[in-house]
Amino acid sequence: PRTVYLSRHGQSLYDVEKKIGGNPGITAAGEQYAKWLGKVVPGEVWTTTHHRSPLKDLEDSTDEDEQSCSGRPLFGRLFPCVDLRTGTTSPKPIQPARLWTSTLKRTIDTARHIPHPVLELRDGGVWHQMSPRVYRNLDEIFAGDCEGLTYEEIERTHGDEARLRKRDKLGYRYPRGESYLDLIARLDPLMHELESYKEPLLVVSHQATLRVLYSYLVGGERRDAPKVEIPLHTLIKITWDGWRSIREERIAME
Ligand code: G3H
Repeated sequence: PRTVYLSRHGQSLYDVEKKIGGNPGITAAGEQYAKWLGKVVPGEVWTTTHHRSPLKDLEDSTDEDEQSCSGRPLFGRLFPCVDLRTGTTSPKPIQPARLWTSTLKRTIDTARHIPHPVLELRDGGVWHQMSPRVYRNLDEIFAGDCEGLTYEEIERTHGDEARLRKRDKLGYRYPRGESYLDLIARLDPLMHELESYKEPLLVVSHQATLRVLYSYLVGGERRDAPKVEIPLHTLIKITWDGWRSIREERIAME
């Protein structure tokens, strides 16, 4: 796609307790972010029109082309669509977008308010289904024996591990867990998949995984990936204007 949006999950119970890993739910503040995302995304993501199908002539689009599928405003005239949930057919095409989350509760809960019709689209004669996708590859870095601990507890109970990680955050692998290099390997298939998309994509995932995806998208150095700033409650928008021209925008919840 020309535009990829990245978001961490809303604040989780472990964020408050400063614990890593696990599968906690989101807090009231996290829920507030989820609701904010549900409001911002329809206007911001689903209405972008960066991709234009070579099969369609968009020049003759009229105001009438702005329409809704399942009552949700979407713009464009790229593909005809059928909403599989309601069975309604949109006579005119809409601008589709993709939504990915991890399998963990905190990202699924964060994406819960984002309206996303389950569409069947025809692109160049081929029908394909577009619905939110839940990927295990997008789960947070697995901290193995250190899951559920705070960084302070790790220093106290696994001092050597904490030192090794400080020395080489990219290559360090948690005992019975993962390293950032492992994450790069497990995200690799998804990077290829997203490259094949023409539609905008929103990824709701976790700090470590998004650091890797972000670095890939902006062409950052691998060794710097574990230090990239991916704040909570902020939607990161990455747009390609051309070959090497990358624009980044960060929309923080007010
Ligand atoms: O472990 C969970 C964190 O999101 C990853 O952060 O690599 O800076 O420890 P860290």
